[in-house]
Amino acid sequence: MEKIKVTAPASVANVACGYDIFGFALDLPSDELVLQKRNDSKLVIHDIKGAQLPTEPDQNVATVAIAALLNHLGSEQGFNLAIEKMIKPGSGLGSSASAAAAAVVAANVLMGSPLSKEDLVQFAMAGEIVASKKPHADNVSPSILGGFTVVRSVEPLDVFKIHHPKDLEVLIIFPDVEIKTAEARKLIGNQIPLDNARTQWGNVAGLVAGMINEDWNLISNSLQDVVAEPVRKYLIPGYDQVKEIVMAHDAIGFNISGSGPCMFAFFKGSGLASSAIPGIQKVYDQLSVKTFFHTSKINTEGTIVI
Ligand code: HSE
Repeated sequence: MEKIKVTAPASVANVACGYDIFGFALDLPSDELVLQKRNDSKLVIHDIKGAQLPTEPDQNVATVAIAALLNHLGSEQGFNLAIEKMIKPGSGLGSSASAAAAAVVAANVLMGSPLSKEDLVQFAMAGEIVASKKPHADNVSPSILGGFTVVRSVEPLDVFKIHHPKDLEVLIIFPDVEIKTAEARKLIGNQIPLDNARTQWGNVAGLVAGMINEDWNLISNSLQDVVAEPVRKYLIPGYDQVKEIVMAHDAIGFNISGSGPCMFAFFKGSGLASSAIPGIQKVYDQLSVKTFFHTSKINTEGTIVI
């Protein structure tokens, strides 16, 4: 095969208590990539639609991810890339991760599928470093594998999927301001007090058990974050008001999606999520911030060939 087109979904990282370890894939938006073999060893991005991104091979997440994969395979194969971005960079929906995910999945197929999707996560993560300066796999894992994923360890990489309730519905709220992940990461620092660590560990265990056992009360009680939300929420206009509105509309939980500005809310069953939208819209109208909404199930497929 010489040419392939793949699509890689947006994702929500952290999921409240799981800073850098939890993530899940959304059904939309998703990025598309057309990858074609070249007769030389160059990686050439000849078209990017939907966003202004660097095309230098050492600065674009997609080419950096492919280079890491080719290096591992000991291959000098070159590729042409055409990228169509539907996931806005800086929105908190894993935009750079989905580009990296699409790139490694497509390159692996054109190389004869030597690696599994699980194996590809580490090369996509190498691409992510370009965007966020630190290796984290909580967006690339769900974007490649689909579902709700846990990054147990980055070095060595150990990633797995856990069960999620099928009737879980997600509301994504996107106030159109840009937050740079690298900047938002600086706010968190390198240390957390032991009391906060203890609270976070309890919630991490609770969320995993809640998802696996479809225990909605446990999911709801565990969707708390004492590490990132308290320092990052100030970057997001209207955050506390939106949280209050969403929880008053019977959400199971609410938090920042990745490093924001997108926020997510979990609802049990279809139809409830949209009832919260008019109240939230009013908040952003008053703040004169353009806002987008999207409801989604958790996407179980991840990156696929189309
Ligand atoms: N876990 C990362 C962070 C995700 O919160 O910085 C970035 O989207």
